[in-house]
Amino acid sequence: MSRIILSILSILVIIGCKQSDKKVGFIIPGAIWKDTEGNPINAHGGGILYDKGTYYWYGEYKKGLTWRVDYIKSWECYRTNAGGVSCYSSKDLVNWKNEGIVLPSERQDTSNDLFYGKVIERPKVIYNDKTKKYVMWLHVDSEDYSFARAGVAMSDNPTGPFAYIGSVRPYGQMSRDMTLFKDEDGRAYHVFSSESNATMYISLLDDNYLSHSDRYIRTLINLSREAPAIIRHKNKYYLVSSACSGWSPNKAMYAEADSMLGEWKMIKNPCVGRGSDTTYGTQSTYLLPIDGETGKFLFIADRWNKTNLEDSRYVWLPGKFENDTMVIQWQDQWNPIASSF
Ligand code: DGJ
Repeated sequence: MSRIILSILSILVIIGCKQSDKKVGFIIPGAIWKDTEGNPINAHGGGILYDKGTYYWYGEYKKGLTWRVDYIKSWECYRTNAGGVSCYSSKDLVNWKNEGIVLPSERQDTSNDLFYGKVIERPKVIYNDKTKKYVMWLHVDSEDYSFARAGVAMSDNPTGPFAYIGSVRPYGQMSRDMTLFKDEDGRAYHVFSSESNATMYISLLDDNYLSHSDRYIRTLINLSREAPAIIRHKNKYYLVSSACSGWSPNKAMYAEADSMLGEWKMIKNPCVGRGSDTTYGTQSTYLLPIDGETGKFLFIADRWNKTNLEDSRYVWLPGKFENDTMVIQWQDQWNPIASSF
């Protein structure tokens, strides 16, 4: 009898060990996320680069007081000083090491695009296989958001430092919320809200990714979309965006197209279930492919806290395609690599 109990006990111990070996940690959407040193992760409006087995998360470093710009009455212009672009690295998308500020803001020169009293938002980084450079594009703006330009910076390493090159209004047009998308053929696109956020632009970047080619489209015309994020699934392209309601959440929508510069058709809200009408209280910023075969991806979004922007939280959720329809679902806690979704 005691032998049987012993055997059962040892089986339980073995199972227990195996399970703890497999324990890899969880993403808890909306919680305070700590880096590997125990400090809150500060990387808002971010994007992810996967490079040689490591994920790099770039985002807005928002530190300190949030205030409302009092002379702007038409919308709630809450802001913090621009702290530059932060970077974190991870092997598993759950444990993040702080790699520091890879593009700092400027403390002295008020005319500099990156002056800390201005706006630095939504940085994204892609790797150029030809030039072997890491290229960052970001939204740079004045405190009243009237400058509306796209800035570009470059580095030899994913962890920087990035050298700031300058900013443009592509095709003479405003550029605010933005993302980058690098396609399988190495072509890269800058996607940005333009024309006072009324219309989305998609521009093919030049081969070095540092300037805009003459090939671009105006799309989602007069639909007033921002927070663009792109993913390719099989031979279709999907663009998730939000409506324009300042720091307050609203309903996401996705559009699809057969090619990046082709015709984009608005489809529907990809979010399902409770909270889907406000994108679970968030705004999109990036879509990260997890499994090209099955189309599983990571939906990356910000839950802005407009009166304390530093304390804005991260909401990362599982996304998938069901018969080519994009679906994003809430999870209380999950692991992007170990979970089946
Ligand atoms: C919404 C944008 O998506 C954010 O990046 C930021 O610019 C806020 N508007 C400012 O209100």
